[in-house]
Amino acid sequence: MMARSAEIVGVGSCLPEKRLTNADLEKMVNTSDEWILTRTGISERRIVAQGEATSDLAVRACESAISDAGIEPGDIDLLVVATSTPDMLLPSTACLVQAHLGLTCPAFDMNAACTGFIYGLHTASSAIEAGRADVVLLVGADTLTRVVDFKDRRTCVLFGDGAGAAVLRASENPGVRSIVLGADGKGNSMLKIPAGGSAMPASPETVQTRLHFIQMNGNEVFKFAVRAIPRATRAALAASEIDVSELAWLVPHQANQRILDTIADRLHVPHERVFSNLATTGNTSAASIPLAIDDLYTSGRLAPGNLLALVGFGAGVTWGAAIVEWTKATPGKEA
Ligand code: UT7
Repeated sequence: MMARSAEIVGVGSCLPEKRLTNADLEKMVNTSDEWILTRTGISERRIVAQGEATSDLAVRACESAISDAGIEPGDIDLLVVATSTPDMLLPSTACLVQAHLGLTCPAFDMNAACTGFIYGLHTASSAIEAGRADVVLLVGADTLTRVVDFKDRRTCVLFGDGAGAAVLRASENPGVRSIVLGADGKGNSMLKIPAGGSAMPASPETVQTRLHFIQMNGNEVFKFAVRAIPRATRAALAASEIDVSELAWLVPHQANQRILDTIADRLHVPHERVFSNLATTGNTSAASIPLAIDDLYTSGRLAPGNLLALVGFGAGVTWGAAIVEWTKATPGKEA
């Protein structure tokens, strides 16, 4: 009997309508389009409108993925929402999304920051491989612009909002071939939101001292990323017994073009095989990898048999890499 594997059978994404350009940011903080572009590669990002929350983006991405997979909501056995910007602390965003979609399956949030989608893929594929679920809906959704300090030029230029979803189904095709995850909590202070949790509940002082916003040591995160991504990618490739030259696409978390260029060089992957859309999305945290997959798929740049390395890193610090064999037909080339 063939091993039971998890295959991606549907993808979908959602970017909010509203654009925030570098020119807009020039009016808000002491920065320039030239600085942002040369240091990050970002030109614009999408941001949620007033009244719009993480779950709204997640629902739209999930609806597209469900439709793309050609399944019914009732077919879904498990919903995992990877996010570090939930609508609220309780209940989970997954339960809000579940209700919107009319699902009856178990649903929970997972927080591995920008590595959330890879952690979620681990959970989803493990549940499928173990026979505990046949169909899992996984969505990475974040609205980091809600927790970014628009008075802090070191962080506010980097982030955007979005959601990307995937439907995974039990299959005899290889699908998700290998996943390696990592975490090093000693790096917890590199990227954090100090207040609003049990350690520092909200108070007038925490608001006044801007402790509900992201604090980041950008240089440290940069150094960590360019070390962790190549290492995780090599480990996942080795676990799948695949050579880096066999990859159709390296799909890294979209944080900074200089990070992408450095990891491409370190892994000896031609730059044109390293996916990049951060010029127009910014860093969308847990949404960035599924948004990338959806972009590659809908633009006809994926074909059955293509091997992808999906690699994430983020606060925690956390990291993870997955080797996925693409099995869906290219749009317009269905049999
Ligand atoms: O999902 C993970 C999320 N985080 C990341 O991926 C962050 C990874 N790190 C980075 O992408 C980069 O470290 C940054 C883009 C955040 C910063 O780039 P950098 O080349 O490391 O710049 P820097 O922090 O060393 O700052 C250089 C200069 C400083 O000025 P001085 O001290 O040399 O006078 C900063 O104050 O650039 C200044 N600066 C800015 N200037 C204009 C920092 N931010 C800005 C800005 N506009 N937005």
